[in-house]
Amino acid sequence: MSRFRFAALALLLSVAFAWALPANAQHEITGALPKPAGDFRAKPIVVVAGATGRTGRQLIAQLAKDERYSLRSLARDAAKAKRELGGEYNWVAADVTQPDSLLTPLRGATYVIVAIGATERSGPNSPEFVDYGGVRHLVDAAKRGGVQQLTLISSIGVEGEGGFTRWILNLVGGDVLVWKKKGERYLRASGIGYTILRPGGLSDEAGGKVGLAFDQDPDAFGRITRADTATVAIATLGNAAALGKSFNAIADESAARDAWRGKFPALKRDR
Ligand SMILES: NC(=O)c1ccc[n+]([C@@H]2O[C@H](COP(=O)([O-])OP(=O)(O)OC[C@H]3O[C@@H](n4cnc5c(N)ncnc54)[C@H](OP(=O)(O)O)[C@@H]3O)[C@@H](O)[C@H]2O)c1
Repeated sequence: MSRFRFAALALLLSVAFAWALPANAQHEITGALPKPAGDFRAKPIVVVAGATGRTGRQLIAQLAKDERYSLRSLARDAAKAKRELGGEYNWVAADVTQPDSLLTPLRGATYVIVAIGATERSGPNSPEFVDYGGVRHLVDAAKRGGVQQLTLISSIGVEGEGGFTRWILNLVGGDVLVWKKKGERYLRASGIGYTILRPGGLSDEAGGKVGLAFDQDPDAFGRITRADTATVAIATLGNAAALGKSFNAIADESAARDAWRGKFPALKRDR
């Protein structure tokens, strides 16, 4: 074959080859991939335990609008939750007093936010079995399911000793702070990535209206809205500066509204 014919054939073949390649592969060769039409990367799954509760509802409302995450909402009665709160929250049935019911809902999740709370002072759904036993079961299932971080909504006052408010809360609430403290300890010792958020007295006013303060004083007191509690809990997810830390969160009228977002690094790690 003459040199001219060889060059013409090579040119023809390279044009035909390039034409036959799919558009993406062409760009791969030049290193300039077009952005895919959809986002095919899987989003991290956030499981909310206690999603039907008053703080839980704030969590799922905020998470459902948050494009960074996929949401799984746990409810003892998933059909009722769907009917009453809406179908957009990906409801899954689970009871934290029944450890086996948690295995499938937590499998493959990246984050878990726990907003459960006992519904009775004594009996099978009291603090011993929900705020302690339930947390234990959630932690165990999270470990088995490969969860990276569990954020526990606990309570201000859990860590301190004595005091009238603490005494009253334990008296009327079936030793709720005592059992919450045991739940916290179990989580801390579990080896899983965690954050323990201890909100002050919860209220149902709108969130985002005032500044917030974080501290690690065992005897601190204060109040915070459930909406702000949910926002802080979500801000701990994947936040290295919140990992391995336990802290109180309360409203602080004197603080700038979003200043709390930069306050995680100043908190001490638990150990
Ligand atoms: N009240 C305060 O001032 C205050 C202050 C600081 C901290 N906290 C703590 O903050 C957290 C959230 O409080 P909240 O007032 O928003 O809670 P809440 O409205 O009482 O909701 C409690 C949630 O726990 C769920 N739950 C109860 N038992 C369960 C079980 N066996 N299995 C699965 N889920 C179960 C409930 O689900 P169902 O719908 O199935 O009942 C509900 O979703 C609680 O841990 C609370 O102790 C409260």
